[in-house]
Order: sequence, then C-alpha cells, then structure tokens
Amino acid sequence: MRMSSSYVVSVPIRWATVCALLILSALLLAACSAAATPAPAQEPAAVAQPTATSAPVAEPTATSAPAAEPTATAEAEPEPTAAAAEEAMAFTGDADAGMYIATLSGGCGCHFNRDLGGLAGGNKFEGPFGVVYARNITPDMETGIGSYSQEQIVSLLRSGAGSDGWQLHPIMPYHAFSVLSDKEAWDVAAYLHSLDPISNAVPDRELTADPAPFTPDVAAPAEAPTDPVARGAQLATIARCGACHTPNNEDGSPNLDLMLAGATVRDSISANITPDEATGIGSWTEEQIATLMRTGTRPDGSAVEGAMAQQIERRFNILTEADALAIAAYLKSIPAVSHDPFK
Ligand code: HEC
Repeated sequence: MRMSSSYVVSVPIRWATVCALLILSALLLAACSAAATPAPAQEPAAVAQPTATSAPVAEPTATSAPAAEPTATAEAEPEPTAAAAEEAMAFTGDADAGMYIATLSGGCGCHFNRDLGGLAGGNKFEGPFGVVYARNITPDMETGIGSYSQEQIVSLLRSGAGSDGWQLHPIMPYHAFSVLSDKEAWDVAAYLHSLDPISNAVPDRELTADPAPFTPDVAAPAEAPTDPVARGAQLATIARCGACHTPNNEDGSPNLDLMLAGATVRDSISANITPDEATGIGSWTEEQIATLMRTGTRPDGSAVEGAMAQQIERRFNILTEADALAIAAYLKSIPAVSHDPFK
C-alpha cells in the first residue's frame, strides 16, 4: 500500500540541534554512528597522556602496519601499566542485558568492520567538520578499548567525554545514549568488554574544531524507568526513532512541531506514528503497535517495508513484550499531529 522505495541503508542519527547542521552531511553518508574514541586514551595508563588540544597525536600503534587479522590478544605483553589496567578491569554488569540495549540502539553498526567481522572500527565519516573514523570498540589492549576502565567507557557512551578533556564527535550518538540508566550503561560496557578483541589500529580523526563538551540535561537514573510511557520514551530515544520519523528543519535540526509525524529519509518515506487518527496511528491499539514493532505486521495484516522492515529485522524484533508495549504507550502519549508525509 505504501510506496516506500528501496531501503534506507541504516539508521541516520539525530542528536541535539546544536550540532545538527554540521553533521547533516555525515548523516547522509553514514547510516549510523561512529565513535571517535580519542587516540590518547588508547594508552593503557590514564597517566601522562598528551593534552587534548594537540591534534593528531602520533600514537605508537598508528604507524605500525594495520594488523589485518583478529589475533591480537595473545601477544599482549604484561607491562606494569597493562597489569594495572587489568586490575581495573573487573567489570560488573550484565553483558547479555548490555547486548540487548546495544542491539536496540543500532548494534553499534557503525563500528562494524566487514573485513574483520566485528566492532573493530575504521569506517570513515567525512563532512564539513573534518574526518572521523569509527573507533575500534573491541577490548583489544593496544588498538581498542581493552585498557579503558568501565567508568571511562560509560562516560564515553553517555557524554562523549574521554580522559583529559577529549570529547567525541557527536556522530557518536552519546546525546541519545545519555538517557541510559546507570545499570544499562554499565551493562553495555560489560557487553563490549566481553567481545573478542580484534587488533585494528584506526587512524586519528582530523576535525576542523574540537567538539563541544556535553552535559546531559538530566542526570541518568540508577535503573531504567518502569513507568511504561517513560520507558517507551527512553527506548525511542536510544533507538532514535526520530531520525527517520521526524522531519528536519532547513538547518538540519529536528522539526519538533512535526515530532514523529513522518519524514522523507533518503529515498524512503517513514510514517506518521503520532496518535492522529487520520494521518497517524491513532486508531491502532497499544497491542497492535507492539506487534508491529516486533514483527512488522500492521493491524490490517500488511507488512511494513523498506527501512522499517530492516530495523525490525536487525534490532526491534528482540524487543521484550513489555518494552514493545512501553514504546506503544509512549507513542500514544505524544501529541497527535495531522501530517501526511506522502503529500
Ligand atoms: C531507519 C529509519 C527508521 C527508524 C530508525 C525507525 N523507523 Fe519506523 N518506519 C520507517 C519507515 C521508512 C516506515 C514506513 C515503512 C513502510 O512504508 O512500509 C516506518 C514505519 C513505522 C511504523 C508503521 C506505521 C504505519 O502507519 O504503517 C511504526 C509504528 C514505526 N515505524 C515505529 C517506529 C518506532 C517506534 C521507531 C523507534 C523505536 C522507529 N519506527 C524507528 C523508518 C524508520
């Protein structure tokens, strides 16, 4: 019934309006998000790192030829610093629960390295802001995040803040991830830490300006909200529904008057998912919305296509029933907007 053309390659991101303009072109390029983890932080010890302002610091590993095989861990020599780092590596958190959140967020797909078959990074994101590369977020000690403490990973996830004033470029969606509860953030860190290490040295970023520091408006809760509407809002933020369902203003910021009212995404058109009866999904029950989120089947029996079908296949099918219903409760709670994205 709907002419959603081909498919949107992945999850364009939207974050705070401040950065939107700069990043728009990266969005178009890149289906999801790259974490530009600061190079200095790749050193095992948090001590005596180069200052954040000295641009591309020549890190020791960067010059050696990029190791193309995922073999690295074996030969991590036990230096004193590495041992100290190892000591701090007692990660708490539930890796399976972290995988669930990571999957809903997009599975860290921007970090996926097709050649190496894991989250070894290297994908390049280019725009007016310069060049960033998705970092290696496997726990490799030399080239990945193996030397990071759990606190450091959580900080990078939720505020983009690395050690010594390093700030990730907001292509990495830490604005969205700032709503992760403490427990979920720790779980995601534990999940990343549980992955097989892959050695892959990623080039340093080259930015035209240092990204602004980011402090979330609201401090993260200890645990995920249990109220369905609040939980649904949190999940919609982490999963970045708005990136496809909310149109942008000309400056690239989200048009909040049309929040979740449907938008053109690349060459595909998303749906109005506000509770408007005529142009949105106001006539659907919460159960019907939850079913669509998990299976892609609409109340009339038809199947969603294109970008949404892909998102369901890649991630939303793992939603627990409670979480799918929470998203439905949230969608029911937002303002109804009369808007037909197909017109
Ligand atoms: C990558 C882009 C993308 C993301 C991210 C995305 N959607 Fe969609 N969504 C679409 C597109 C495109 C369609 C229309 C599919 C079609 O026409 O078959 C759609 C359709 C839907 C529909 C069906 C509406 C109808 O009238 O048939 C619902 C409900 C929905 N999305 C909810 C969500 C929610 C909730 C999220 C976040 C948890 C989300 N979507 C994230 C692109 C996306």
